[in-house]
Amino acid sequence: MRDQKAAEIFQSHQENETSRIEEMFSTFLSIVIPTYNESENIIRLVTEIVNRVPKDARTEILIVDDNSPDGTSSLVEKFVLENNFDIIHNESRTLTIKVIRRQRRDGLMCAVLDGIKTSRGKNILVMDADFSHPPQLIPRIISELKHESNCVVIGSRYAKGGTTVGVPLKRLIISFGATGIARYGLNVKEVRDPMSGFFAVPRHVLKDIEFNTQGFKILLEILVKKQRHVTVKEIPYTFTDRKYGHSKLDLKVFVDYTRAIWSLYKYGRRSQKRLETSEHRGSVLFLSKAARFFTVGATGLVVNFLVSFLLSNGTLANFWYVQATAIGIAISITTNFILNKIWTFEDKKFSVLYTLKQYGLFLLFSSLGISIQLSLVYLLVESGMSYNISLVCAVAAASISNFILNKKWTFREKVWG
Ligand code: GDD
Ligand code: MN
Repeated sequence: MRDQKAAEIFQSHQENETSRIEEMFSTFLSIVIPTYNESENIIRLVTEIVNRVPKDARTEILIVDDNSPDGTSSLVEKFVLENNFDIIHNESRTLTIKVIRRQRRDGLMCAVLDGIKTSRGKNILVMDADFSHPPQLIPRIISELKHESNCVVIGSRYAKGGTTVGVPLKRLIISFGATGIARYGLNVKEVRDPMSGFFAVPRHVLKDIEFNTQGFKILLEILVKKQRHVTVKEIPYTFTDRKYGHSKLDLKVFVDYTRAIWSLYKYGRRSQKRLETSEHRGSVLFLSKAARFFTVGATGLVVNFLVSFLLSNGTLANFWYVQATAIGIAISITTNFILNKIWTFEDKKFSVLYTLKQYGLFLLFSSLGISIQLSLVYLLVESGMSYNISLVCAVAAASISNFILNKKWTFREKVWG
């Protein structure tokens, strides 16, 4: 009798224990933090996270460090040992911290992917080490994941209620432009902050996604490549620029970004062909026309150069160089106009009056583009941005506005599509 009772108690205890462990694992969260020279931030951040994650759930923190010269990884390793957060001595604890030391600096995206590969949690959260992503938001993100098992949860600067503080104008402009291009060019319009580095996903959402390691933003790849039934939830927060250490966003990042957008765009076009849905059509048409427009622009530069050169060096004529350049400009604007009419916009209306009117508008928008470029370069350089980046932004802004104005007014098309 007594034995039976004991057996029952034992069994119910076992069941409780199993369900406790199951519960712990069903909410098992891996937090992936890439670091490069974050010695001034990382221990404070990890301590904050340890204090904020629920004590009854299993959590692992993975620090992915690219052999930072400032000793970030040794610092964390020491902290882990001192506080028994390592896996070996920590079977009974619900929280473990692991340092992944990579041999050399290999980029943010690759670091995060390595962290995800090593992680074991059911859900994965990615965040920066520099306190730009507030650890206070973590409990909110965890509870969203609990409610919705098919959801990408994004810490969002641009959702209603979110904002950025202390970020220099130059970075705001770049971030804003990059976000706009991603939202409209890649058809993730409904997401306000697709470039966020602060997000969480259930592991199964990543299962079918093949990441491009040359890519730039993990979240962006997830949003473009995820299955349709996976939803997105944005939680607004205040992004504060780092107080310690330096940002690693530089010109190379800018180049990587352009490359990544292009390859995601091609990916979108391939899946468009496969699916034959009309969903991507607007962006595909828009971008393919933009690509033609910019190609025409590049041929214009060649024409301009060649004509000016041949007219001033005696091959075709021996004009004064200012005259030769002026003729070069006039001819290249004209060839640009003709090519855009026939090739870019496939406009078949050739009546003289109509074409002349179009030509006039084209000239007007070209001069407007020049003034936009000049004033923007001036404003950006005066506000402290380097000349290179200012020039890239100004040329981009001028060319894009040029394209859109001509699309709408000169060639009378809808802007989108
Ligand atoms: N392992 C590793 N390797 N970590 C890196 C590397 C790298 O090459 N480069 C940067 N990190 C780490 C930093 O230590 C930091 O924890 C995080 O990645 C973000 O780097 P920051 O240099 O602080 O980037 P940011 O502030 O310019 O960019 C952040 O904000 C953007 C939005 O404006 C990032 O969160 C981006 O993901 C985000 O899009
Ligand atoms: Mn930062």
